[in-house]
Amino acid sequence: MPSIAVIGSVNLDIVAKAAKLPAPGETITDAELHSFPGGKGANQALAAQRLGADVTLVARVGDDASAATALALLQHGGVDLSNCRPVPGKTTGTALIAVAPSGENQIVVAPGANRSLMPDDFDVPNTDALICQLEVPVDTVAWVARNYSGFFCVNLAPAMRIDAAVLQRADLIVVNETESEWYGATLAACSGILATTRGAGTATLVRGGEILAEATPPAVEAVDTTGAGDTFTAALTVALVEGMQPGDALRFACAAGSLATTKMGAQTSLPTREEVNACGE
Ligand code: RIB
Repeated sequence: MPSIAVIGSVNLDIVAKAAKLPAPGETITDAELHSFPGGKGANQALAAQRLGADVTLVARVGDDASAATALALLQHGGVDLSNCRPVPGKTTGTALIAVAPSGENQIVVAPGANRSLMPDDFDVPNTDALICQLEVPVDTVAWVARNYSGFFCVNLAPAMRIDAAVLQRADLIVVNETESEWYGATLAACSGILATTRGAGTATLVRGGEILAEATPPAVEAVDTTGAGDTFTAALTVALVEGMQPGDALRFACAAGSLATTKMGAQTSLPTREEVNACGE
């Protein structure tokens, strides 16, 4: 069982399942309203725990009523939340999400307390692997990259400017197609493995310009793609740290990501290890 630390965001996702996604300036009515625990950090933490890792989450929430709801599934799932603290006077991160019948989504995040996770404000955990994303301050991610010595994964989501030293330090970088285009040639600074997802299309692992593995996610009936990238990131990290070969690790991550699209919600749809192993059998 690998030990994994996730340094990242916790959000409450307010989700409207609608007949279509709105165009700019358009109002869509008759949506179904849901709220789910979310946030890229929290989703990745619970995804890794469900896949068999022993996970600790370092995060900040507000001192409001949303915090308990946002943390409920992590707590129930056994993720160590001793480094997940409320910040006085701040609100818990909130994501407003519209989901179309195809499962496609649009997301706007109000980060709230996630912006209060500052460098030097916590001890960098001593684990087999550590995962960061970019919903917490990039200076914190850069500080973690400098001070952590195990297998370091950074999911460059949402896309934003980041110190090149983070890309050079990362053993694994995960981007989707949109992020890959946004970063462009900057990703050449990556000396570890670069994983690129392309929705239902072929995902790749590349190192030093050489393709290590390619895999197409198993076909599923998608109802909500929220959290699929987080599940892929967590699964790929778990698999590589366990010592799986790149091709097997990528197939495992693609299966986990696909399964996460088959139910509504980010954390409510995270697959177990058994479900991933059985996928495509
Ligand atoms: O990656 C999906 C997540 O992005 C959602 O859970 C939402 O909270 C946003 O952070």
